[in-house]
Parts: sequence; structure tokens; C-alpha cells
Amino acid sequence: MHFLNLLAKTALVLLTMATAIYATAVPSPISDKTIIISHRSIASKRSFADTKAALDATLPNLNTTFRDLLNANDPAGALAALKDLPALNSFMPPRDFGQLITIYGINGKHALQYEIGNPYTASKFARHNLGAALYAPIRVALIEDSHGVVRFVFDKPTSTFGQFGDPRIDAVAVALDNELTQLFLFAGGWPSSWPLPPLP
Ligand SMILES: *[C@@H]1O[C@H](CO)[C@@H](O)[C@H](O)[C@H]1NC(C)=O
Repeated sequence: MHFLNLLAKTALVLLTMATAIYATAVPSPISDKTIIISHRSIASKRSFADTKAALDATLPNLNTTFRDLLNANDPAGALAALKDLPALNSFMPPRDFGQLITIYGINGKHALQYEIGNPYTASKFARHNLGAALYAPIRVALIEDSHGVVRFVFDKPTSTFGQFGDPRIDAVAVALDNELTQLFLFAGGWPSSWPLPPLP
């Protein structure tokens, strides 16, 4: 019994060593990197419904004419259409997480997920680093917290795009941080410089 136990342990050690040797010989398909994210939360002075209404009234649905022009092999036309877009746009109808959890009998909760951005801005990130495809447009949550405070929450583009360590990307991200912040201050009933003109 004791001998069998020892044999099993030895086999396990050998297997672990073999795996380790194999792992150094064959590169892993998986690589991990830890980044620091700065998370911004902007409290609204308004009710959830009034905050949502103010946001929706100032945030147009994305005009996708640029895509038709790209599909028609007209990059110059697409660029002109992109330059025509307002600073920020809504990429999809908001996803309703408050409604989702009614399946558990939890009612009256408010949480919406938006995707907000500008594909011309996205192109200014992507031309320098295609990793930008993970972060544009910006995911934003509009949530009523457990104290009844309505908040916009997002990861600041300066930190998500900042991981690329490219000053050309950083400059665009600083402007995008500000656009999002001004938009949410505006929708939340605070003084704000929204609406901002599109970035040059
Ligand atoms: C969408 O963009 C195109 C190109 O800029 C413009 O001609 C068109 O009027 C826009 N459509 C809407 C609904 O704003």
C-alpha cells in the first residue's frame, strides 16, 4: 500500500516535470498581461428615467453610411461621412440588465448598458494599434445604485487605450475621456460644455 502510494507520487512528479519541459519547448498560445484601469463614475442629479431621457435626447444612433461607402470601396467617401458624425453616438439599443433580473423575481432595478463612441475616433486608435478593437466603442453602464443614486460608470479610455503606451493614442484618449465626461455631466443635470464639436 505504502509502496503503491510512493509509486503514484513519483509518477505524478515525473509527469509534472515532463509537462514543464514540454511547456518551455512549445510556446503557450495563452499570454496574460495585467493592466491598471481607472474607473470613472459620474453621479446624476436626476432620476433614472430623466437621466436616460436626457442622454437619449442628445445621443444620436450611429449613422452607418460610412460602412456602406467602405463596402462600396469608397474610402474617401467613408472618411467624409466619418468626419460628419457628431462627437459621440450610440452604437446599439441599450441592454437592460434591470429587466433581465426580473427572471429571479427582482423587480424595479435600473441598469442599462450602452455602447458609445465615434468610429472616426476609433480609426485614430486602430491605425496605430489594432488592439484598440477590444475597447472601441466605449461600454457605459447607467445604474441606479443601492442608495438610489443614478450613476454613469465607465473605464476611462486613457487607461484602457493607455496600455498601448503610444503618445499618439494617448492624445486621442484624453479628448475622448473629456467628451464622455461632459456628455454624462450634461445628462446628469450638471454644468457641462456638452455638446462638444467632433474631434478634428
Ligand atoms: C448619414 O450620413 C450621411 C453622410 O454624411 C448623410 O448624407 C445622411 O444625411 C446621414 N443620415 C442621417 C439620418 O443623418
